[in-house]
Amino acid sequence: MNKSYEALFASFRFPSGVTVDNRVTMAPMTLMASAANGEVTDDELAYYELRSRGIGTLFTSSALVSQSGKLGENLFAIDNDDLLPGLTKLASVIRKNGTKAFIQLFHGGRLSNPALLPGGQALGASAVAAEREGAAVPKAMTEAEIESVVDDFAQAARRAIEAGFDGVEIHGANGFLLQQFFSPHSNRREDKWGGTLEKRMNFPLEVIRRVKDTVAKHASSPFAVGYRLSPEENENPGITMADTLRFVDVLAEQGLDFIHVSVDRFWAGPRREENSAKSRVVMIQEQAGGRVPVIGVGGLWTPEDVVQALGTGIPLVGLGHAMLLNPDWIEKVRSGREAEITTLLSRSSQKELRIPDKMWGMITNVPGWFNVVD
Ligand SMILES: Cc1cc2nc3c(=O)[nH]c(=O)nc-3n(C[C@H](O)[C@H](O)[C@H](O)COP(=O)(O)O)c2cc1C
Repeated sequence: MNKSYEALFASFRFPSGVTVDNRVTMAPMTLMASAANGEVTDDELAYYELRSRGIGTLFTSSALVSQSGKLGENLFAIDNDDLLPGLTKLASVIRKNGTKAFIQLFHGGRLSNPALLPGGQALGASAVAAEREGAAVPKAMTEAEIESVVDDFAQAARRAIEAGFDGVEIHGANGFLLQQFFSPHSNRREDKWGGTLEKRMNFPLEVIRRVKDTVAKHASSPFAVGYRLSPEENENPGITMADTLRFVDVLAEQGLDFIHVSVDRFWAGPRREENSAKSRVVMIQEQAGGRVPVIGVGGLWTPEDVVQALGTGIPLVGLGHAMLLNPDWIEKVRSGREAEITTLLSRSSQKELRIPDKMWGMITNVPGWFNVVD
């Protein structure tokens, strides 16, 4: 191994005591390869098995905590105890060679597909549709519905523990339900769940509190709880970087194992501030990094990219695209074969990369997402 990459292979201990033997994580990526009821399939097991040979931490695809948050068909789920045998198999496949298995917990909120929902209408913080074509107006959640979804997150965390995962990531990013409560676009409430920036934090904070209580009650060995957020929204009003820094300040006091920043480009600065050259990941690290570990992602491909990102002081980085196309990314770097890391997706590589059909269709057809070659 090239000596300048040593920083990647330093071990790391999360605050809960979960330890990993390198600084690279696989970013969560939705697969859409589960059975109709959200149960783990052999295609998913094969995909994860290939990617958990050497990587320190693997985040699974987002897992539905409730049918009321369903976005599409064949989504991975953790919303009932019948799914435990499949979840247990998945955790054990990921952990077989020492990788830590973290499962991402999510609810789609107003972005859920009404046609797939029990009541035929999506739930949201307020009755405000997303700013995208065809978006439906959700039902503003009642107090009872809020309590019920908070409980769904807690029950999902219990199942993750029972299945043998090493941690959960609460999905507060990418426009889904937890972000919807924090956002001034989707949350127009005037009760304890909205009305001010502080009150818009209350729903995510309640989910964190209940998940952590569940861990304290059910986990008999170290178990990590982290939070993923998107630092900004395009909408006006929408979450700004200043809002996020205040939120991060509060998140840093919740006893979390990590804050995971969901951005496409690690080095990109805030969108609203012209000439802002400072990376949003670095801003979050400066705000909270001394109190809670921060994970940064976005456009990192090579070991040089990862070393440079770690140089900002963040302890862990995530690879999404790079791990999809290079399941043995860590081994390539460890054995001095980093020149073999590819950024190209060959049309003939589906089998070799064990990418399930639906995801394959998506990544090879959505223009500009992957660099597809014949
Ligand atoms: C196919 C695909 C599926 C994704 N699904 C999820 C997801 O389920 N949850 C999530 O938080 N982020 C998801 N993301 C975002 C990634 O976790 C990551 O933040 C993003 O791809 C930037 O990192 P990268 O440039 O290394 O890919 C997905 C990304 C891709 C490419």
